[in-house]
Amino acid sequence: MKFSTNNKKINEIKSDCLMISIFNDGKLRGCAKLVNTANGKLIDDFIKNKDIQGKIGQTRIIPVTGKSYKRIVLVGCGKYEDFSQKNYRKAVISALNKISHTNHKSVVSLIHDGVEKIDNPEKAYRLSRVLAESWHSISYQYTTTKESNKKNLGLRKIEIGTNGKKAIREIQTGLKHGDAIGKATQLVRELGDLPANICTPTYLASVARKIVSKNKSAKLKVLNEAQMKKLGMDSLLSVTAGAKEPAKMIIAEFFNGPKSQKPVAVVGKGITFDTGGISLKPSNKMDEMKYDMCGASTTIGLLQMVTELNLPINALFVVPACENVPSSTATLPGDVVKSMSGTTIEILNTDAEGRLILADALTYAQKYKPKLIIDMATLTGACVVALGAHHSGLMSNSDQLAEKLFECGQTTDDVTWRLPLTEEYADQIVSNFADVANISTRGSGAGTITAGCFLQKFVGDYDWAHIDIAGVAWAEGANKGATGRPMGLMSEFLINESKI
Ligand code: BES
Ligand code: MN
Ligand code: ZN
Repeated sequence: MKFSTNNKKINEIKSDCLMISIFNDGKLRGCAKLVNTANGKLIDDFIKNKDIQGKIGQTRIIPVTGKSYKRIVLVGCGKYEDFSQKNYRKAVISALNKISHTNHKSVVSLIHDGVEKIDNPEKAYRLSRVLAESWHSISYQYTTTKESNKKNLGLRKIEIGTNGKKAIREIQTGLKHGDAIGKATQLVRELGDLPANICTPTYLASVARKIVSKNKSAKLKVLNEAQMKKLGMDSLLSVTAGAKEPAKMIIAEFFNGPKSQKPVAVVGKGITFDTGGISLKPSNKMDEMKYDMCGASTTIGLLQMVTELNLPINALFVVPACENVPSSTATLPGDVVKSMSGTTIEILNTDAEGRLILADALTYAQKYKPKLIIDMATLTGACVVALGAHHSGLMSNSDQLAEKLFECGQTTDDVTWRLPLTEEYADQIVSNFADVANISTRGSGAGTITAGCFLQKFVGDYDWAHIDIAGVAWAEGANKGATGRPMGLMSEFLINESKI
C-alpha cells in the first residue's frame, strides 16, 4: 500500500474515491460541505432521504460525473460531539473495508474531524497514524494453513487530503508510523494465529533473525538449552522438561540511540503451547493455548517496528520460548528449582509456568543494566475474569512508569487498568520448602496480582511493569483470532522513549 498526502484543492483531487464524514445530525461540516457544494448539493439529497443516517460504520459509495474523482464515499461518523479517535478508527475501518472489496484503486480521505483543514499538528499525526493502521487491520489475512482465506484487495493508494499545506510533516510522520505499526501488528497476529506445530520456539527465533538481518544496529542471540543450563536458568528449563521441542531464549539488541543511554528492555512470554503440563488443563478450549506466546509475538512485532522505523533508541527484546507439556520427564508438582537469580521456587502447579520462564528472562535482561523493564504475558485466567477482553492488567513497582503506560494505552485506544502490588499479596506466595511458591498458598483470590508479585521478586530495584494480556491478545468464538494487542500501546511507549 502506498500512503501519502494530497495537497491539491478539493476540486483538483485526482482519485477513484473521496471519503467524507457524515454525522448523525445530518449537518455537513468542513470538507464534506465543500464537496457537497461542488456536486450540486447531491449529498443533501442522500441525507434528506435517509440513504445514510451517519451511524458509525455506515458507508455509501456515490458515483459522480464530470469531476477529477469518480466516487464520493459517505462515511458515517456518529455524533459530532462524540467524534473521538476511537469512533474515527471504527468509521475508517468500515469505509476502507467497503472500498477494498470494489475495483477502486485509490482513495483520498477528507474525513479529518469535521474541519476543512487539519492544522492541529498532534491531531494531524494521530488521524494519519490511525488511518494507516486501519488499513493493515482490515487487510490482515491468515492464509498459511487456509488458502481460501485469501481475498484480492484492489486498493493500492491511500492519501490524506490536506486542502493546503499545513501540518504536512506531521501527517507524513503519522502515515509512516502507522504503516510500520500496522505491518508489525499483522506479524503479531500471524504468529499468534499459527498453530503450535508450526510456530515453535525455533520458528520464533527464525522470524526474529530475519528482522534483525535488515538493520545494521540490530543483533540477535539465541540461547539453546545447554547454554541456558550453563547460565543456571533452571526455572525456565523446568517448564520445557517434558517437551521434545527445543526451548530457545531469543535476545535481540537494538542499540540505535546515544551510546550513553541505557536500554529499555521488553520481555514477552513465549509458551508456544500450554497444556498445563502435569497439572493438565481441561480439554475444553485448550487449543486457544497456542496463543500463549502473544507476549513473545508482540515483542517480536515491536522489534520489527523499531528496526523498520530505525528509531533512535536503545532497546533490548527478550523472548523466553518453550512448550509446556506433560511426559515422564516433565516437572512434577512439588519440585523445587533454583532460578538464574539464585531464588529457589517450589512449583506447586506446573500450569503456572509463564512466571517461571519470565523469572529467568527478567534476570537475564538485567545483564544489560536497563533503564526499565516491561514484560507482556498471557499470564493468568484470573485477569480474564477481572478485566475481560477490554483492559490489559497493568502492574508496576514504579508509579511513574505505570502512569506512562496507562497514558499510552489511553492515547492509542489499547487500554490498561492498574492493579495493586502491595505486600499482603506477596505474602500469599510463601513456601515451606523454597524461597517462593509459584502459586498462592494462602487463599485463592487475586491470581493476577499474586502472579505479578512473583515476577516482582525477579526484578530487583529496576523500574519494571508487567502487562497481563490474557484477556485481550485474542478473540474467541466466531471471530477467533489474534488481535495484535498490546502493539498499539507499546509502540506508543517506544516511540515516546526514542524522543527522550
Ligand atoms: N496461559 C495461562 C493463562 C491463561 C488462561 C491465559 C486462560 C488466557 C486464558 C497460564 O499459564 C495459566 O495456566 N495460569 C494459571 C495459573 C494458576 C495455575 C495459578 C491460570 O490462570 O489458571
Ligand atoms: Mn499455564
Ligand atoms: Zn500459560
